[in-house]
Amino acid sequence: MFRYMIAKCISAHEGVQYAHMKRTGHLEVIAGPMYCGKTEELIRQVKRASIGKKKVQVYKHAIDTRYGKGKNVYSHAGLSFKSHVITEASEILKKLHKNTEIVAIDEAQWFGQDLIPVVNELLDKKIRVMVAGLAMTYERQPFAPMPTLMAMADKTTKLSAICSVCGEEAVFHKRIVKTTIHNPLEADPALVGRTDAYEARCRHCFDKP
Ligand code: ADP
Ligand code: TMP
Ligand code: MG
Ligand code: ZN
Repeated sequence: MFRYMIAKCISAHEGVQYAHMKRTGHLEVIAGPMYCGKTEELIRQVKRASIGKKKVQVYKHAIDTRYGKGKNVYSHAGLSFKSHVITEASEILKKLHKNTEIVAIDEAQWFGQDLIPVVNELLDKKIRVMVAGLAMTYERQPFAPMPTLMAMADKTTKLSAICSVCGEEAVFHKRIVKTTIHNPLEADPALVGRTDAYEARCRHCFDKP
């Protein structure tokens, strides 16, 4: 009897959560430094949703030409999923299908603050939104619009990578090559795709060369 009551409570609780998600949309943010597994986690979630026959649309920024210029999001370890390649946040709404239930956005940091109203509009449409992006710049400053999205989110997953100097958990990444672009909020097209341009670093090793 007790077990039955517990089960009833759990399923009622899940029902409430589900009803909430259905009614208001749901925002999940996956943040962290380079190599921490943001794209892997995004792909894992959209693959699970596809298994559940959910209508999913994935978007990535056109700057991300790593591992080819194809219409896929790619992780560093070679996982991929088909996506729309866009340059501005507003294109997410323009390309949105009428019956889409889940929108996943990778490399959110390159869309800037314009992404915020777009995400809000998707949430108003009762869509489940998943956003992955760099939490910090290579100079260890918060990387807009991620801090705002993390604050708005129903769920935030903060991942860490492995420090390439000492092997401990790394919450930062460091630019280790010289570049002509000095604004840390701006992508350097010359460096995108170069896996030797940035390294995951822990707090202790960040200042090491
Ligand atoms: P992100 O999108 O956060 O940059 P990905 O999801 O594309 O990361 O790739 C994560 C994968 O990168 C890991 O599973 C691992 O195979 C690989 N990898 C390479 N360098 C590192 C590192 N320093 N720390 C952790 N994973 C790394
Ligand atoms: P990642 O988080 O999936 O590794 O992707 C980050 C991408 O952004 C990668 O292509 C390298 C690029 N990048 C820049 O162009 N400028 C930067 O300052 C940083 C940190 C990354
Ligand atoms: Mg990634
Ligand atoms: Zn370290």
